[in-house]
Amino acid sequence: MHGCRNERLLVKAIKIRGFAAEIGQMAAKRGNDSLRKFRLDNILENAYIAVMNQQNYVQINQRYSGLAETTCCLSCGGAINHAQPHKGEFCVDLGSGRGTDAVRMAEDVGELGQVVGIDIADGMIEKARATAQKLSVDNVRFEKAELESLPIENGVADLIISNCVLNHARSKAKVWEEIFRILKPGGRFVISDIYSLEPVPEEFKNDPEAVAECWAGADTREVYVQTIQKAGFASFDVLEESKPYAKGKVQVCSWTIAGVKPGKKKCCG
Ligand SMILES: C[S@@+](CC[C@H](N)C(=O)[O-])C[C@H]1O[C@@H](n2cnc3c(N)ncnc32)[C@H](O)[C@@H]1O
Repeated sequence: MHGCRNERLLVKAIKIRGFAAEIGQMAAKRGNDSLRKFRLDNILENAYIAVMNQQNYVQINQRYSGLAETTCCLSCGGAINHAQPHKGEFCVDLGSGRGTDAVRMAEDVGELGQVVGIDIADGMIEKARATAQKLSVDNVRFEKAELESLPIENGVADLIISNCVLNHARSKAKVWEEIFRILKPGGRFVISDIYSLEPVPEEFKNDPEAVAECWAGADTREVYVQTIQKAGFASFDVLEESKPYAKGKVQVCSWTIAGVKPGKKKCCG
């Protein structure tokens, strides 16, 4: 039953994207500015992303809610070990899972600081809230949300961490725009994730189960770098990078990267 519905949604989504691409090409060929102004292709691309996300997130919610009470390792790098949250800072963990890293940051930033963990899986949010309560850590909160639309104001975060999460997002460009948006000027990110050695074939990229398994959503290193730069981070550091290894049906590498949002005013002196 669900399978049929998902297939119908998938067909619709692919048609929408095809339609969007045609309109974009038509507009470009004719130099049709009025058509461009409407940004119809963008609207349709967003509709495509929304339909695809709906499917992906059902799978992600299912998979990770099921893993919430297990102890299996879900990380792919040491972002938290490089993060160095300072007293009083406002920190965000994207895809906070069972909440371990967010709680650790909450302890580091102290009672004047605050931490928000974002996750899409109900089971993970429940588990993380229970852990914080058990440890009496009350300067951390966990919110169910998608990485592409963070429930956080502009320019408030000092530090964003994430571990093995961004590869799941259908629109990495939107996620990186969100990271840039919520960071303060001078705010920093430390992110562990994977990239693929070769572009992941469309059949896997469009398979919500394979995406939820933490490999089919991966971008290549080149695309990853371009996405970060387009969002406004001119450069970033690579803190850790693994050798290639097999994951699902592809070869991937894990890496931990760190960068700073430009624009912090220099102190006079
Ligand atoms: C591989 S686990 C990593 C969890 C945690 N960061 C850790 O290192 O243990 C990925 C987590 O990201 C969440 N997630 C995946 N895609 C997401 C999205 N688009 N928006 C919000 N959370 C997402 C999943 O629900 C899951 O809890």
